[in-house]
Amino acid sequence: MSRIAYVNGSYVPHNQASVHIEDRGYQFADGVYEVWAVRDGKLLDSAGHFRRLARSLGELRIAAPMNDAALSIVLREVVRQNRVRDGLVYLQVTRGVAPRDHAFPKDIVSSIVITSKPVNAAAAERAAQKGVAVITLADQRWARCDIKSVSLLPNILAKQSAVEANAYEAWMVDGKGRVTEGSSSNAWIVTKDGVLTTRSLSNDILGGITRERVLALAAARQIKVEERSFSVEEAKQAKEAFITSSMNLVTPITKIDTTSIAGGTPGEMACALRKDYLQSAAT
Ligand SMILES: Cc1ncc(COP(=O)(O)O)c(C=O)c1O
Repeated sequence: MSRIAYVNGSYVPHNQASVHIEDRGYQFADGVYEVWAVRDGKLLDSAGHFRRLARSLGELRIAAPMNDAALSIVLREVVRQNRVRDGLVYLQVTRGVAPRDHAFPKDIVSSIVITSKPVNAAAAERAAQKGVAVITLADQRWARCDIKSVSLLPNILAKQSAVEANAYEAWMVDGKGRVTEGSSSNAWIVTKDGVLTTRSLSNDILGGITRERVLALAAARQIKVEERSFSVEEAKQAKEAFITSSMNLVTPITKIDTTSIAGGTPGEMACALRKDYLQSAAT
C-alpha cells in the first residue's frame, strides 16, 4: 500500500509530495507543527493539540489554513488513507510561498502538509517497561520555546548527542543548571519525599499536551505536585524520573548521565501514570 500525504488541498502519493522551493518553512523555518499520537486509529488528546496549534500560529501571526472542524476531517482522512492504527499524524503549517525576504510578505497564503505513519507501539512499550537513559547538556535554544516552531536545530543536535551516547533522550539545562525539558519531551522527577515535580510553563519550555494530561491524572490520584524548576543534581538524587510526550506518553527514566535512577528500574508513579494515560487519552 502506498503512503498518502495531504499537501495544500490535495491527497497525493507520499513519494510525489512536494512544496515550492520558496516556501518560507524551507527557507526560514517560518512555520509551526503538531504531532498527534494515533492509537487504535484514534487521535489522542485531539483538542489539546488543536488549542496549541492555534496558539503557535497566533504567536507567529500565521493564518490558520482552515478551521478546526475541516482540519479534523483532513487529519482523520490522512490517518484512514494510510491505514494507521498505532502511529502518528504530523501537521506542518508555514507562512507560505513568496520571493525570499525576511519581512512578512503581503497577502501570503499559508502552506499545509499532513502525513501519517505507523510507529512500533510494541517497541515503545518495551522501552517504557525497561526504562530509558537520558543525558544532560546545555540548552542552546531561542527565547520562545513555548511556540511549537519547525525551527528545531538545537533539539536535533541534542537528540543526536543522546543517540551517540547510547541514550534515549537529552535533557537540556539552562544557565542556572536547571533542567528545561527534553529535546522532544517534558521532564519530570519524583523528589525524595514523593513530590511529583515538573518545570512550570513559561517561554522556556513547550507546554506539552501530555504534560497537561499527566498533571490532571496526578491530581485525580491526589499526588502532591509542584510546578517548579529542578537542578540536574536534584534529578540525580530523585526517587524517580520520567519524560512525557505524545510519542512516548509517560516513559520512565532509569539513568541520568552516569547516575542510576530508581535503582535502575522504572518508578512506581511513572508506571501508574502511564497506565492512567493510556486509559484516559483516547478521544
Ligand atoms: C521540545 C518539546 N517539549 C515537549 C514536548 C512534549 O509535548 P507533547 O506532550 O504535546 O507531545 C515535545 C513534543 O514534541 C517537544 O518537542
